[in-house]
Amino acid sequence: MNSKIINFIKRKNKSKIISLTAYSKNIASIIDKHCDLVLVGDSLGSVLYNFSSTKKVTLDMMIEHSKSVRMGVKKSLMVVDMPHNTYRTPREALRNAKKIISKTKCDAVKLEGGKKFVQIIKTLTKNKIPVMGHLGLLPQSAINFKFKGKETKERKTILRDSKLLEEAGVFSIVLECIESSLAKEITKTIKIPTIGIGASVHCDGQVLVTDDLMGLNKIKARFVKKYANIEKQINDATLKFKKDVLKRKFPTKKHSY
Ligand code: KIV
Repeated sequence: MNSKIINFIKRKNKSKIISLTAYSKNIASIIDKHCDLVLVGDSLGSVLYNFSSTKKVTLDMMIEHSKSVRMGVKKSLMVVDMPHNTYRTPREALRNAKKIISKTKCDAVKLEGGKKFVQIIKTLTKNKIPVMGHLGLLPQSAINFKFKGKETKERKTILRDSKLLEEAGVFSIVLECIESSLAKEITKTIKIPTIGIGASVHCDGQVLVTDDLMGLNKIKARFVKKYANIEKQINDATLKFKKDVLKRKFPTKKHSY
């Protein structure tokens, strides 16, 4: 494990870990200053491309967006989601993870799922590819988007999977839409950091989709808190530009050659 990853793991039980998504350079360079981890999430499929699920996101899309993000991320750990159907076998996962790392220079990849993916994770970590896990609600395979961990059987499976993923070598796990007391139990049980999204204050860190917290995305999920209304700011600026152009107030001599 490289020192960046080791230092990230050491953050457990210290101050909370801050994580956000980025899909391009400009946003990445702003959030990088305040984040510990910047995730190029395959949520870009629904946020940017209006896909109904993340299933349609391709490896090339993730690579191109990640190349842009790389230019903005200087200090945070940069993690890239492996899209759907790019890690069905250890061989396929290794080939695609190597491609993501070599083309984007990211620090790690993230993949969704539990027990079924243990061998794949072991293959990647044995090949020195740092892997972040993702449990709970798994958008790449979800049939419904309900929170997880209400039923005893489901709770046991998710808790077991968190231990299996840790043993397989992941350096951290995203817990998505998991009932609070289960998120607390997992966070207490495993020695690597848990990063929650809709998984309570008990996780070692929190992640949100940046477009959601900036008020750019229309999502109404319970776990989203809108910290800004960038939509209004863009709207107001566009309106001002329009008025200036219509009234011949822009460009002035100052903006002309
Ligand atoms: O794709 C994504 O943005 C994610 C986060 C929501 C954790 O996986």
